[in-house]
Amino acid sequence: METNTDQQVAKIELDGKIIELPVIIGTEDEKAVDISSLRAQTGYITLDKGFKNTGSCTSSITFLDGEKGILRYRGYPIEQLAEQASFLEVSYLILNGELPTQEQLSNWEDEIDHHTLVHEDMKRFFEAYPAQAHPMGILASMICSMSTFYPESQDPHRSKEAFQLSINRLIAKLPTLAAMVYKNAVRHPFMYPKNDLGYIENFMYMMWGMPTEDYTPSPVIAKALNKLLILHADHEQNCSASTVRIVGSSQANLYASISAGISALWGPLHGGANQAVIEMLEMIQNDGGDLDKWVAKAKDKEDPFRLMGFGHRVYKNFDPRATIIKQACDDILEELGINDPTLEIAKKLEEVALSDEYFKSRGLYPNVDFYSGIIYRAIGIPTEMFTVMFALGRLPGWIAQWKEMLDNGDPIGRPRQVYTGYNKRDFVPVSQR
Ligand code: SDX
Repeated sequence: METNTDQQVAKIELDGKIIELPVIIGTEDEKAVDISSLRAQTGYITLDKGFKNTGSCTSSITFLDGEKGILRYRGYPIEQLAEQASFLEVSYLILNGELPTQEQLSNWEDEIDHHTLVHEDMKRFFEAYPAQAHPMGILASMICSMSTFYPESQDPHRSKEAFQLSINRLIAKLPTLAAMVYKNAVRHPFMYPKNDLGYIENFMYMMWGMPTEDYTPSPVIAKALNKLLILHADHEQNCSASTVRIVGSSQANLYASISAGISALWGPLHGGANQAVIEMLEMIQNDGGDLDKWVAKAKDKEDPFRLMGFGHRVYKNFDPRATIIKQACDDILEELGINDPTLEIAKKLEEVALSDEYFKSRGLYPNVDFYSGIIYRAIGIPTEMFTVMFALGRLPGWIAQWKEMLDNGDPIGRPRQVYTGYNKRDFVPVSQR
């Protein structure tokens, strides 16, 4: 959809000269000053560490409003998608821009089923990793290695069919590889996909099935996983999506770009937070559960401790995903008859923090990662696999962002800087230093 084009302008006065810069207005009335001609007109660049106020692109995939706690994929509210859609249906929506008809959805499911196996040689990679290798380190390299097994994916001028095949292979094989990473960690035999199962159920089968016994995926857990993956499916220009875009902007192939996104997601300030939240809650529990002590540490500028799962670059009131996941947490623990003291600590911690001026004044509320780990743990996913689950959910979003960047013909990403080092100085031979 076109952005608003009747020319509003921003006027900037620099060195006694007034220049005009065009204003871009999006379909949800988001406003931006287009500074692409700023340097040519004035010699100045802008500086915005962490891109807190800087847009990198126009996009029609996801809309979020941090003040109002709104999140929509291609215009559809996540509250409706999480309740009514399947994850593959939402993946189709995010990738193609429209909800699939029944025929399109059936064809999409069949196509994904057709590609769930990974190349047999990829099994050998696992023999080389140390026993305690972090799953994200394995996953990132596995996904990049897919470009070597499917060299046609490396051709930036590939046909539309080859382009789509690369995408379908990735959507189909990531669950298989994620389950292999888990099986490798617990030293259990790999389970081959069973394509008569649904996407989520097949993943569960490959994770928890054993060759020696029948395995029937629990509908309760499948429903919870479906909701969690949908809630993670995209989130506009977050750290990992921006990484995927900038790597892809050099015409690096899809698998290399997504592998970079997985690496960015691993950080505890981003997707790694879901693992860090559980580790924090367990630490607080083991320390005697003194919440006031830990909230005070989180507020202390001299103390590096932060409340993991709290705060967000964009959401300054509440993260709509956290609201949905918190309810899902209650539901699944009740349905599974699990009493997890960590959940009680999490709820109390939320209460204590949100009654504290420091957190309220900074708009620090629970984010998507605060409760998700509690559900993952309840359904039997080990802590170190939590961020792998985040990657499973975020995959369609990353691919859609990468595809949109190419479709829009966005230029290679290459930010400027302000140099603050030495001025010119002459070399001094080592004998004179
Ligand atoms: C995700 O961008 C996305 O969309 C990401 C994501 C997605 O779906 O892709 O939503 C997924 O990454 C969620 C965030 C998960 N990370 C965490 O839970 C880690 C803990 N949170 C923080 O590290 C922090 O809140 C960030 C990284 C999430 C946001 O950091 P910002 O926007 O750079 O904010 P900031 O660091 O400038 O903080 C502003 C103030 C600072 O205090 P002052 O300098 O104003 O005094 O808030 C404080 C910070 O010290 N602060 C916290 C805090 N988070 C921010 N203080 C204590 N505990 C925290 N968690």
